[in-house]
Amino acid sequence: MNSAGFVFDLVWLALALAVLAVMSVYGFFTLIGAVSFVPFVPSGKAKSRTMLDLAGIGEGSRILIGSGDGQLCLMAAKRGAYALGLEINPVLVCLSKMRAKLWKVDRNCRFIFVDMWKYDLPPETQAVFVYGWPDHMAKLWNKLKKELPAGTKIVSHAFVFPGQEPVS
Ligand SMILES: C[S@@+](CC[C@H](N)C(=O)[O-])C[C@H]1O[C@@H](n2cnc3c(N)ncnc32)[C@H](O)[C@@H]1O
Repeated sequence: MNSAGFVFDLVWLALALAVLAVMSVYGFFTLIGAVSFVPFVPSGKAKSRTMLDLAGIGEGSRILIGSGDGQLCLMAAKRGAYALGLEINPVLVCLSKMRAKLWKVDRNCRFIFVDMWKYDLPPETQAVFVYGWPDHMAKLWNKLKKELPAGTKIVSHAFVFPGQEPVS
């Protein structure tokens, strides 16, 4: 094999190893997320838009979510809101940060690699968006009640909080 062929093989090997490493990290943290709260299932653009409309998200709002691929945060930031995304999967955090740059909203968005159960929610939060597994909704409700001021809007995709009556 000539040296150009050898370098070519090395580059492919390095690329394959990098992809494998990213997939392993993604898979590992998907499992952690699934046990802790819920694995990544995107809300999608249409439902994200509805969720933002329901909370009346516009300029100046601060929001906070289990951010997944960042879609909801990006759409909120495009409306002029300040969005904080909490996410346990570092691959999704990197993806969200890259998307924020591409969308040119990185000044309005912040994504943090963190376990939300160990994170003190900022009291100035005006709205929270969640898409969590029913088993964890009661625990999440207790955290939100304890850490956020009365009047904070909470929008939950798909599942209700036990004992709470949705207003819309
Ligand atoms: C169902 S997805 C929803 C993503 C996004 N909010 C949306 O609606 O498209 C829930 C996200 O929560 C993340 N997650 C699970 N447990 C978490 C934890 N303890 N702290 C922070 N994020 C967590 C998952 O990795 C996943 O990306």
